[in-house]
Amino acid sequence: MSVGIDEISFYTSNYFLDLRTLAEVQHTDPDKYYTGIGQERMGMAAPDEDIVTLAANAALPLIERVGPDAISTLLFATETGIDQSKSAGVYVHRLLGLNSNCRVVELKQACYSATAALQMACALVARQPQRKVLVIASDIARYDLNTPGEATQGCGAVAMLIGSDPRLVSIEPEVGNYTEDVMDFWRPNYRTTALVDGKYSTKIYLKALKRAWENFREVSPLTFGDLSHFCYHLPFSRMAQKAHQHLAKLNRSPLDPEQLEAQIEETLLYNRTIGNSYTASMYIGLCSLLENCRNSLADSRIGFFSYGSGCVGEFFTGTVRQGYEACLHRSRHQQMLAARSELSYDEYLELYRYPDPRDGEVHEIPQVTTGRFRLAAISHHKREYIIC
Ligand code: CAA
Repeated sequence: MSVGIDEISFYTSNYFLDLRTLAEVQHTDPDKYYTGIGQERMGMAAPDEDIVTLAANAALPLIERVGPDAISTLLFATETGIDQSKSAGVYVHRLLGLNSNCRVVELKQACYSATAALQMACALVARQPQRKVLVIASDIARYDLNTPGEATQGCGAVAMLIGSDPRLVSIEPEVGNYTEDVMDFWRPNYRTTALVDGKYSTKIYLKALKRAWENFREVSPLTFGDLSHFCYHLPFSRMAQKAHQHLAKLNRSPLDPEQLEAQIEETLLYNRTIGNSYTASMYIGLCSLLENCRNSLADSRIGFFSYGSGCVGEFFTGTVRQGYEACLHRSRHQQMLAARSELSYDEYLELYRYPDPRDGEVHEIPQVTTGRFRLAAISHHKREYIIC
């Protein structure tokens, strides 16, 4: 029985900062961002947006199609947790009107946890093939101002419906894993921005790729040459290019640089203008590939490398299904990206510095988001979400 991704939808904020604006303020060459790290814009969440509203907006089109009672489990992956105890998914459960018999849980291991959620969802569906599991990955990437990480911020959420006989991508059961206790990127509970050892993090990413790939090769007969496209975790798009060259070299691939670039270039398009969305980024990359590839991907095999700092890496594969094109949300995604508003540097700072109240008083939040769901207030330490 085939199990995998039946439908996929993503959402990002309506606001972005162009990295040319950031470069100008920093007296940096914009090509460092546009070419050096391969990023053009970064999404900035509005004051009334957070991982819950991004997630609910991403999942809404899927629930509108299958109905709220179709979902047996909601797995919510994030590293931008809003509560140490309550799962962000429980708020989403109410906003989407899911059935009270649907179980909900939040998962964490940096940017990797969406892949853990996907694998767990596949296992649940393999046990009960009539069930559908909703996997949501939602994150807001934030670094300190005037640090090298600042240009790699962003925000986004992706929602995937996991089921049997999936219409988009069947996920194969063989996986290669690599785990090591390292401090490349982390965010202690008392901080709202991540700490990162930037150069080290890129080295560890490549090491985890090598080791996860080697582990994958021990359990799967597939070789590098059997895979037509590759989706990598996308902290910034240049990282995927480096990763792919690294993997090709490890495998002594005969492909030339242009052919290698063709195996990943369509996965990078959305990320270049959304920025890092941590757990969601590789799956937004998958959307980007499925929705922008000029040739049909039907029956093609895709390699996925998921990386979460700290660190856990996983390599796995999936095969694109015949007729997948009819099940995409291409025009909605592209219209959403085209309709976003550009921020000035001062407006960016205003969003960046918008207060995060912790005093237990009543704080109403003005309506800024153009999305269907918003964080309307934080009162008595409780977050209040409404449907617009
Ligand atoms: N024109 C063209 N290219 C230029 C340029 C110019 N004018 N100026 C610089 N460049 C190039 C550099 O040569 C460099 O290229 P290479 O990497 O190929 O050598 C590239 O632009 C970046 O320049 P720097 O190395 O000088 O950049 P930096 O040190 O200021 O910052 C970074 C880079 C360390 C990755 C930083 O963006 C960062 O800390 N980011 C956050 C951490 C991160 O994303 N790590 C990725 C792995 S961890 C992970 O994946 C988990 C996660 O989601 C965070």
